[in-house]
Amino acid sequence: MKLLVATEKPFAKVAIDGIRQVAEQAGYELVLLEKYASKEALLQAVADADAMIVRSDIVDSEVFEAAKQLRIVVRAGAGYDNIDLEAATRHGVCVMNTPGQNSNAVAELVFGLLIYAVRNFYNGTSGTELKDKTLGIHAFGNVGRNVARIAKGFGMKVLAYDAFCSDEVMLEAGVTPVHSAEELYEQSNIVSLHIPATEQTKRSINQALLSRMPQGGILVNTARKEVINEDELIVAMGERPDLRYVTDIMPAADLRMTELFAGRYFSTPKKMGAQTAEANINAGIAAANQIVDYLENGNERFRLNK
Ligand code: 3PG
Repeated sequence: MKLLVATEKPFAKVAIDGIRQVAEQAGYELVLLEKYASKEALLQAVADADAMIVRSDIVDSEVFEAAKQLRIVVRAGAGYDNIDLEAATRHGVCVMNTPGQNSNAVAELVFGLLIYAVRNFYNGTSGTELKDKTLGIHAFGNVGRNVARIAKGFGMKVLAYDAFCSDEVMLEAGVTPVHSAEELYEQSNIVSLHIPATEQTKRSINQALLSRMPQGGILVNTARKEVINEDELIVAMGERPDLRYVTDIMPAADLRMTELFAGRYFSTPKKMGAQTAEANINAGIAAANQIVDYLENGNERFRLNK
């Protein structure tokens, strides 16, 4: 069996060591394709792979077409909007993710971005504190739950909105549920986005929602850039000089936003949320174990496509 790790943004070496150990124990050959610059390189590398681990790498029908032996792809991470599930099913390939494995890393970065924002991007002027502010968590999945835990350590009041999560789960985590996105944005000094990019959520964070935020509102995005309606974000920030946007996923309009909103807009140059040794180890090794368990035992837990 050939296990390909195809990561444009590589894992930490220590995670690769762990993945290698799992592969070798199963008698599989491990092949690395890291920091590849062209899709052609991926198409070539996947041609004789039986299994593949990816991160945000695009796995579309062309990739499945080239992957004549592929039986399973595991997205080492949570969001799988980069994988064409229908094409995978057409080609008889099982797709899985590794939910929860990198969520603490992403949640910690939320607070890295927030401290940077409320301390005025470290420009020497007087900022504000997070304590006693209200944080609205938009989607209460694995990352949202970690964000809630950390926010409580800061002494923040925590609200959450998630159409797919019960009030009980939120209340048990010490979080106050609200029942619409509108309510969440209206009541939160800071909103942290944790919705996946789906047909329903793409471009759903719009001016109507943002304009509901209280004075000095901050939107922090460690989810996906696609969920933002960028044109409307620009209009909202233009109309409201008090609004701030900090993100771990560079907007398509980064240059324009940098020019227009100096001092209240920041994007990491490359998505950093899951870039910790711990998250790489957790997600990478979980992915390798899921592959071995699927190929050897047929275990389909975490399967995403039918
Ligand atoms: C995820 O969906 O797991 C996170 O966005 C991390 O993505 P990455 O593996 O591309 O860093």
